[in-house]
Amino acid sequence: MIAIRHLSMRLTAGGRRVTILDDVALSIPPKQMVAVMGPSGSGKSTLLGLIAGLDRPTEGTIVLDGIDITTLSESRMAKFRRMKIGYIFQSFHLIPTLTALENVLVPLELAGHAAAKDLAAELLHAVGLQDRMHHYPVQLSGGEQQRVAVARAFACRPPILLADEPTGNLDSQTGRHVMDLLLSLHRDYGTTLVLVTHDRAVASLMHRVIALRDGRIESDDLISETESHQEPTL
Ligand SMILES: Nc1ncnc2c1ncn2[C@@H]1O[C@H](COP(=O)(O)OP(=O)(O)O)[C@@H](O)[C@H]1O
Ligand SMILES: [Mg+2]
Repeated sequence: MIAIRHLSMRLTAGGRRVTILDDVALSIPPKQMVAVMGPSGSGKSTLLGLIAGLDRPTEGTIVLDGIDITTLSESRMAKFRRMKIGYIFQSFHLIPTLTALENVLVPLELAGHAAAKDLAAELLHAVGLQDRMHHYPVQLSGGEQQRVAVARAFACRPPILLADEPTGNLDSQTGRHVMDLLLSLHRDYGTTLVLVTHDRAVASLMHRVIALRDGRIESDDLISETESHQEPTL
C-alpha cells in the first residue's frame, strides 16, 4: 500500500517560489498497476522520485507498508529502498563500466544475497538476455539495455516497481517487449507498478490512469476490465 497525503514540493529557483507538487493525495493498493500521465513539467518524475525516497518533500507524508518514508534517515531510506522499491529510468542508467551481469549483481551484492551470481544470471535469462550477459551497455541496443535495467530493478524482488517513461526511448515493438516483461512481473509476483508514460497504449495496460497538471491530480480513472489486461502481442 502506498498512501500519500498532503504532498507538496516547493522550491526557490532564481529567487522565485516554484510549486512542483501541490497538496497531492493518492492511495495505491497492493498489486495495482498505475499509469501517471500529464504534460512535460507537470511533476510526474518528481512524484516518482519522492515515492522512491530519492528526494524529500516540502510537506506531506508518504507511507509505504506502514512506514512514513519522509521521516527516515538517509541510510535507513537506502536500506528500505533496496528491499521495497525497484526503479527504472527512461534512459536506462546502467553503469557503463560494468557488464550486463555485473549491473544486475550490484543490488544483489548490496543486499548481501547468497548465490547472487546465479540469481543475476537467472534474471538475465528471464529477460531473454542469456547471450548478452558479458556485454557492456554500449554493446547493447536500447531495448536490451532496458531489459537489463528491468532485471536490475527487480533483482531483489521489490514489492513496488517505479518506472519513469520506461519505453520513452524505445521503438514501439521494443517498448512492447519491455511492457510485456513488466506485466509478467506483476502477474507472477503481484508487483505494484507505478509507471509514467506519454503513451496511451501503454497506459491502457494499467488498472488505473492518473493525470497530473501543474503539480496537481487532474483526473484519476480506473480502467474497466474490458480495456485493461490486454495481453500484449509481440
Ligand atoms: N531541482 C529543481 N529545481 C527547479 N525546478 C525543478 C527542479 N526539479 C524539477 N523542477 C521543475 O519542476 C517541474 C516538474 O518537473 P518534473 O517532475 O521533472 O516533471 P515531468 O516529469 O512531469 O516532466 C518542471 O517545471 C521542472 O522544471
Ligand atoms: Mg519526467
